[in-house]
Amino acid sequence: MLEVKVHNLSLKNPVMTASGTFGYGEEFADFVDLERLGGFIVKGTTGSHREGNPYPRMAETPSGMLNAVGLQNGGVQKFCSEVYHRIKHLDTNIIVNVSGSSIEEYCDVAAQIDELERISAIELNISCPNVKKGGMGFGTNPDMAAQVVGEVRKVYHKTLIVKLTPNVTSIVDIAKAVEAAGADSVSLINTMLGMAIDVEKRRPYLSTVTGGLSGPAVKPVAVRMVWQVAHAVQIPVIGLGGIASANDALEFLMAGAKAIQVGTANFIDPAVTMKIIDGLEYYCNCHGIKDINEIIGII
Ligand SMILES: Cc1cc2nc3c(=O)[nH]c(=O)nc-3n(C[C@H](O)[C@H](O)[C@H](O)COP(=O)(O)O)c2cc1C
Repeated sequence: MLEVKVHNLSLKNPVMTASGTFGYGEEFADFVDLERLGGFIVKGTTGSHREGNPYPRMAETPSGMLNAVGLQNGGVQKFCSEVYHRIKHLDTNIIVNVSGSSIEEYCDVAAQIDELERISAIELNISCPNVKKGGMGFGTNPDMAAQVVGEVRKVYHKTLIVKLTPNVTSIVDIAKAVEAAGADSVSLINTMLGMAIDVEKRRPYLSTVTGGLSGPAVKPVAVRMVWQVAHAVQIPVIGLGGIASANDALEFLMAGAKAIQVGTANFIDPAVTMKIIDGLEYYCNCHGIKDINEIIGII
């Protein structure tokens, strides 16, 4: 009833978890039956080990949070030689979020992940700054987005999902550019650029001054963008941004997402994904829906 397809990936249900909010899955094994998920996206993986940004790098906001974790991770070699072997037995889609600060780094990481049999796809996080282009985000310019996707396409042979940033004037232009460059799917949205100030200390809350806003606060923007992109491209769209319930997930599916990801809500309730899957089943039963695909993109 809940099975969906995203390019070559068969998902037991449309519910996945978002990169950076679910570790490597194993951290959630006490709360979640990982094999019940449609899939999970592991945290942003870069060419080498990264410490991330200095603290403080998280702040609460009404209906959301600001983060500036800065892609803290052990690097691709550690992922391939250690983490992969701990999670590869899991019977679900395991997707690696690939991040980098140059096209060469993206390609290097993607090529190493390509060798791992049980990783069914990568999700290319193009929200990262391009250090060779003065720190401009890869994902904020259609030409630069197309260039990085085109180069990664040459070295990565399985399902290539490209994750889009909402911090642009026209997300449709970026989505079309990455589709033309060889993306098999797009996921959206990444966090929205935000800022908060501690007036007693007269300082920004985050060490990096600005950071990424996520959680329920961003959901209406994300639903709007998913709806716009789903109407503009042929490849499947994966929706995320503020999903915390089955109803939220249904909004994204009706807007045109083939699958969804749950991010910040995992921090509030680590078992929320199981409740969302139960809720989708319940909704289908209540409304006589035999196949969830019947409602995907009905708006
Ligand atoms: C603490 C934290 C770390 C994140 N790390 C990554 C990351 O490594 N790569 C990435 O593409 N997105 C990352 N994101 C963005 C989320 O995957 C997601 O796109 C965003 O938070 C919106 O979804 P949500 O509102 O459900 O959290 C991170 C978000 C948070 C809150």
